[in-house]
Amino acid sequence: MNVNRRHLLTGTVGAAAVALTASACASEDGDSGSGGGKKVGIAMPTKTSERWIFDGDNLKASFEEQGYEVTLQYANDVAADQVSQIETMIGQGVNVLVIAAIDNKSLNGVLAQAKESDITVIAYDRLILDTPDVDYYTSFDNTKVGTLQGTYLVEKLGLDAGEAGPFNIELFAGALTDNNTKYFFNGAMEVLQPYIDGGQLVVLSGQTDLEQVATENWDGAVAQDRMETILTSFYTGGQQVQAVLAPYDGISRGIIAALDGQGYTTMPPVTGQDAEVDSVKYIIDGKQAMTVYKDTRALADVTVDMVVAVIDGKEPEINDDSTYDNGDHVVPAHLLEPVSVDVTNYQAELIDSGYIDEADLA
Ligand code: GAL
Repeated sequence: MNVNRRHLLTGTVGAAAVALTASACASEDGDSGSGGGKKVGIAMPTKTSERWIFDGDNLKASFEEQGYEVTLQYANDVAADQVSQIETMIGQGVNVLVIAAIDNKSLNGVLAQAKESDITVIAYDRLILDTPDVDYYTSFDNTKVGTLQGTYLVEKLGLDAGEAGPFNIELFAGALTDNNTKYFFNGAMEVLQPYIDGGQLVVLSGQTDLEQVATENWDGAVAQDRMETILTSFYTGGQQVQAVLAPYDGISRGIIAALDGQGYTTMPPVTGQDAEVDSVKYIIDGKQAMTVYKDTRALADVTVDMVVAVIDGKEPEINDDSTYDNGDHVVPAHLLEPVSVDVTNYQAELIDSGYIDEADLA
């Protein structure tokens, strides 16, 4: 994937272009933007997932273009380490914190410290819960991510066109510590549940509750283990898994490894999210059916624009002020549109837009 360059984005990515503001476009030379030496702390969850590396790189590059001094930290999915990193950033005198939380409920204490120091706090992609001290939220339409995944499976199986089935499906969700997980899962289940109720889709494992299907730390190896257990416990009489709801590409590849290990030569449709290079290769090879592409370059742009507006004392651009109640208040949000990508449109969406270099797919 490519590091963000605003001037490239305006021509190629509609959502990003709409989100750009005049102030954000002002500076390309690294030191004359609105930042004026102000400090931003960026706390990202982990480097094990490709997307967060690009989110971090894109944010850092865009903030630096605006003249901000940037500290970027990853916490290897350990919530307590993320809290300490944020404490250190507060100690360094940051003016703004941009946080993609590992555990959405572990940050209340440290954010209270941030507020005492008058720091603007932006929840990046993952909402931070139960605290008054988060100012804004930038993300995608997370429910739509799930509905795109569910709809893809329904269409692939022909259920929308009257296929009766029954088809065997297994369900996977993300980490329970991530606020997005329930939005993704509920969005998908809005589409799938009527077919489960009608008997056209059958979950042989019987595991349909979010708590049963969640995956600790979004870890592909954890998902692989669970899929293996399901296959060896519930698919012993020659039954085949015919579809898998998977929330994120790392989990999808774990599931595919388990199916591979059990001798599946043709993969059932398995969904995904994040358009990771390894999964796009799987899509081209027919091993993974789809992914949900979220342009993290555009998310970085929206986030930087928001910070620039706040620092300049202007109103940031918000397009949702009702969906994301964090348990304390509805957090004003800027949400972008996710896109369903499979073998038919990956070229246009991912390569032609410059999100992935074609050479990386070889
Ligand atoms: C979610 C994010 C997804 C995916 C997942 C695992 O919070 O919205 O795009 O990256 O975490 O990292």
